[in-house]
Amino acid sequence: MSKLFTPIQIRDLEIKNRLWVAPMCMYSCENQDGVVGEFHLVHLGARALGGAGLVIAEASGVNPAGRITPWCPGIWNQQQVGAWSKVVDFIHSHGSKAGIQLAHAGRKGSTHREQSGAGSIEVSSGGWETVSATDQAFPGYAAPRRLGAAEIAALVEDFAKAGRNAIEAGFDVVEIHAAHGYLLHQFLSPLTNDRTDEYGGSLENRARLLLEVVKAVRDAIGNAPLLVRFSATDYVEGGWDQEQTNQVAIWCKQLGADLFDISSGGLVTGVKIPTGPGYQVTLAESAKTATGTAVAAVGQITSGKQAEEILQQGLVDVILAGREFLRDPFFGLRAAHELGESVSWPVQYSRGQWPSA
Ligand SMILES: Cc1cc2nc3c(=O)[nH]c(=O)nc-3n(C[C@H](O)[C@H](O)[C@H](O)COP(=O)(O)O)c2cc1C
Repeated sequence: MSKLFTPIQIRDLEIKNRLWVAPMCMYSCENQDGVVGEFHLVHLGARALGGAGLVIAEASGVNPAGRITPWCPGIWNQQQVGAWSKVVDFIHSHGSKAGIQLAHAGRKGSTHREQSGAGSIEVSSGGWETVSATDQAFPGYAAPRRLGAAEIAALVEDFAKAGRNAIEAGFDVVEIHAAHGYLLHQFLSPLTNDRTDEYGGSLENRARLLLEVVKAVRDAIGNAPLLVRFSATDYVEGGWDQEQTNQVAIWCKQLGADLFDISSGGLVTGVKIPTGPGYQVTLAESAKTATGTAVAAVGQITSGKQAEEILQQGLVDVILAGREFLRDPFFGLRAAHELGESVSWPVQYSRGQWPSA
């Protein structure tokens, strides 16, 4: 049997395979209220039909200012919980598990979506004042306001409440987004954290907000698996790097994180990211070696064979695929076919199965 289609157990949750849908922003809450609708039901539901073991819903704001754009989903109120639960129920009814990424965009929030323009949206046009570890702007965006201590405490509570809401909506897995230059990454990296209080300076201080969030969300979600997504490196000398990622991941593990989802970049512009097939696998492997905890690899993994080879190398536990699942919602079923695995198909589609060789 392939490793890719060997179930994985995290806490009490068994996930039927190790090919999961990576979180991907869809900017499709058309009423700008963070409430998901038909688009998300069809989009995420199709990937459950298509054989993904876990479908992780996109970056979802823990409060209104935590969204990247006004069209991003939220998980801060009951209307959003009710809407998500319909999507989750559908995913479950097709044998997949559902996850959600809890996010705060920080200084990269209040921006346009591709079809509406570029850069920041003015407050007068439906945008909002952004907040961050710093008052320095992301290039091309409006400058944020530096968060004060009381606001940071409220933010931790927003993450916890979002975690409780996620469980109420039926999600099996919760991921904290600490990557790609969004708020938690803005606190982690010395390039964007210029604070002089207890949330800035040393690694312990820069990691303090993330660790408070991990602890609060862990307490809020019962025994559900907790994932943390890191950018392992800013690809800039003096920035966030693999060594700091590994150390902070160890601290997250001590607070109850179960799996590290290892990505990279996104904090600053103008860096050259060495992309290519499986380009972030070694970053995940390093985190695995340092923490001894399960890790997911992501980034240009586009076939069942490639995914299986990465798992066979022995350090990575799970494969996340983003764009391949956009190209083909049935990537899970196709990967199984490629590896000669017999997996259960949606009964409605059974006549579409590839003929056996
Ligand atoms: C359309 C799109 C939206 C994305 N949105 C998110 C997101 O909400 N949260 C996140 O952590 N990463 C996001 N990503 C990054 C993906 O999760 C993934 O890490 C990246 O696409 C690399 O994997 P791939 O080569 O399989 O696509 C997004 C990527 C794409 C293509």
